[in-house]
Amino acid sequence: MNFSMLAAAYGQSAQAPTSDPTNAGKAVFGKANCMGCHKWHGNGGGGYGGDALSLRKTDLTRDQIIEVVGCGRPGTGMPFFTRGAYDEVKCHDMNRQDAGAQMPPEGGMFLRSKDIEAVADYVIAHIKGAGEPTYAECIAFFSSSSRVCDVYKTQAQKPDDATASRGKGQ
Ligand code: HEC
Repeated sequence: MNFSMLAAAYGQSAQAPTSDPTNAGKAVFGKANCMGCHKWHGNGGGGYGGDALSLRKTDLTRDQIIEVVGCGRPGTGMPFFTRGAYDEVKCHDMNRQDAGAQMPPEGGMFLRSKDIEAVADYVIAHIKGAGEPTYAECIAFFSSSSRVCDVYKTQAQKPDDATASRGKGQ
C-alpha cells in the first residue's frame, strides 16, 4: 500500500463526488489507518498490531463497532480512537489503572464521535457481510485501476463483472 496513491485516489473522488452517503466514513477508514491493519477490504491480515480480525466476517452491530473503535479492545492490538478514553471517558467501566496491562494502544489520531459513527456506517454498508474481495470492489475503493487491485483480476468472476472489470482496467 502506498499512501500517496491513496491520497491521489481520495483527491480524485473529491473532484468527482458521488452521492454515496458513506464516503465520509470511507475517508476516515483511510486517514485513521484502519486499512493499515484491516486492509482496504477489511479482511485484515498480519500487519502491525497483530492479526486484525475480519470486518467482513464480523457479527458486531453498529453500536458495538462504535464502541470497539472508540475504546479499542483491551488486551489486543485494536487501538482506541476517542480522546480521553480510559481517562475522562470510561471504557468498559475501566480507567487506565483498571485496564493495566490490558490497556489497548492509542490510535494514530483521535476521532470525533461523528467520525466514529461515519466509519461504523461505512463498515456496515461496504464491508460487513461482503464475501471475498473482488476486483470490481477494489477499483471502486481506489477510484482507479490501482495496481493493488491486480491480484484480484485472476479471481473467477461472473461474466458481467469480468466485462466491467476489463473495461475499467484498461
Ligand atoms: C494497529 C492496527 C489496527 C488499527 C489501526 C485498527 N484496527 Fe481494528 N482491530 C485490530 C486488531 C488486531 C483487532 C482484533 C482484536 C481482537 O483480537 O479481538 C481489531 C478489531 C476490530 C474490530 C472488531 C471486529 C470483531 O468482529 O470483533 C473492529 C470493528 C475494528 N477493529 C474496526 C477498526 C476501525 C474502524 C479502525 C479505524 C478507525 C480500526 N479498526 C483500526 C487492529 C487494528
